[in-house]
Amino acid sequence: METLVAAKKNLDKRGFLDIDTPNINYVEEILKLKKEKNAVILAHYYQIDEIQEIADFVGDSLALAQKAAETKADMIVFAGVHFMAETAKILNPNKKVLLPDLLAGCSLADSCPPEKFADFKKKHPNHKVVTYINCSADIKALSDIVCTSSNARKIIDSFPEDQPLIFAPDRNLGDYLNKETGRDMLLWDGACMVHEAFSMEKLIDLYKDHPDAELIAHPESEAHMLKVAKYIGSTSGLLNHVRNSKKEKFIVATEAGILFQMMQENPDKIIIPAPAKDDNTCACSECAYMKLNTMKKLYLCLKHELPNIEVDKELAKKAILPIERMLALS
Ligand code: 13P
Ligand code: SF4
Repeated sequence: METLVAAKKNLDKRGFLDIDTPNINYVEEILKLKKEKNAVILAHYYQIDEIQEIADFVGDSLALAQKAAETKADMIVFAGVHFMAETAKILNPNKKVLLPDLLAGCSLADSCPPEKFADFKKKHPNHKVVTYINCSADIKALSDIVCTSSNARKIIDSFPEDQPLIFAPDRNLGDYLNKETGRDMLLWDGACMVHEAFSMEKLIDLYKDHPDAELIAHPESEAHMLKVAKYIGSTSGLLNHVRNSKKEKFIVATEAGILFQMMQENPDKIIIPAPAKDDNTCACSECAYMKLNTMKKLYLCLKHELPNIEVDKELAKKAILPIERMLALS
């Protein structure tokens, strides 16, 4: 087995600890380490089933940020993507925050480079900036307030109607919110590749086989998908809707990881993932970043307390303000 020094070298090169773990029972070891280190495992609904099962808390972006803000644990293991763990670190500067794979990024966060966004903001000095939590700490530091898909409407409504707003980075969520609120927010032209991967053509074919199904969609999806969806909401919104609906069949347009919770909660309902444009193994839309986290990496990161997230102190001081404003309003 490689030493920790070698493992750290791998960490630098590959973003995670790539060491052999023969005969390890990951579930047992993770539970043991978690107890020993007083760690909490927070997982997003898009994580693989096994990680959702072992996590202390599974939630949407807002609930995870709230849990991170209030946890009494000494260490946070974030089974999600980088911007989520970074937000947890900003809220807990004195705690160790671990992300099982440092390469677990986000196409949406990447679509908003800080220098370009700072220039865009400078061109509109009378605008306040609302940013979706799916962005880097640098973008948060340039924002007046952060939001998630669960509370975006409420956050936007907290500004006077005549206050011009910039919304970044998701153009689809921004466009949806403009329609919902009647505002004319300036939109940054970013998007999530997972939610732009759904195929309308394949969806129509699917409907032919399931005319009794109801389409429900995450608001990061494109306008043509949202137009035909019967319900639009965040991951927790989608789960609540299916739980409370009298309908028995749903086509779900969001990342396929959510199906695990949805099927567990609704064993008698039929839940079908919305089809993606390109054929892939699950014929659905999967987030390659979310799926980088595995049980092995979760175990290794707890054992070696790596990779841990660091955020520059000055940057964190600026980035925490819009996050705290969001939490106060939520
Ligand atoms: P929510 O869980 O807030 O709906 O966000 C979805 C998402 O894309 C997270 O990356
Ligand atoms: Fe980012 Fe989209 Fe993956 Fe969410 S699903 S982490 S927004 S790439």
